[in-house]
Amino acid sequence: MKIETQALFPSPVWTTLFDDRVSFNAKLLALASQLRRDDPNGVSNTNIRGWQSPNNLQTLSDFEEINLRILQICQRIAESQHFMPNVVLQHQAWVNISPPGASNQIHYHANCHFSGVYYISLKAPECGSIFFRDPRVASRMFTAPITQQTDFTAEEVRMRPEEGRIYVFPGWIEHGVEINESDQDRVSISFNVRAFQQGAPA
Ligand SMILES: [Fe+2]
Repeated sequence: MKIETQALFPSPVWTTLFDDRVSFNAKLLALASQLRRDDPNGVSNTNIRGWQSPNNLQTLSDFEEINLRILQICQRIAESQHFMPNVVLQHQAWVNISPPGASNQIHYHANCHFSGVYYISLKAPECGSIFFRDPRVASRMFTAPITQQTDFTAEEVRMRPEEGRIYVFPGWIEHGVEINESDQDRVSISFNVRAFQQGAPA
């Protein structure tokens, strides 16, 4: 007897590693550092003991290349999920600089189709992992006695950040970042992306 499996309502995380990450990250790190020098207080959001820029990188020409890549990747994901061919993607992006001891509390991003993060600079593995919490709320009511976690039984999934890697996921997945226990800053760019039909009111 063959038992067949079908995953209903999956929670995908899409990821890719940029080939030119060393030179690309050197430029982004300089730009991120300059942003912080220009605005030492930044904004307070999910960051604990970290610095976060305003979510306006999409308006800054210095960040044009990463803005373009975010949109290109999300466009391909949207196409793979059969978004209408005339949709236009809009995004907001911001810099996170998390010094040793900083973390990002668990949260989700409402009112967007995709969220994500691109890692510019870090010291793995001590810099802490990004983690995702099972969005199937009712599944937490009666957890299974397991010897090993699977995609089905997992309550949380951790992914180790890597310089030059971008992660994209549905904004509705709760996620956070562990405490940076390394001795150097963890620097990343986060973003939210919304898809609009051309001509439709936003
Ligand atoms: Fe987030």
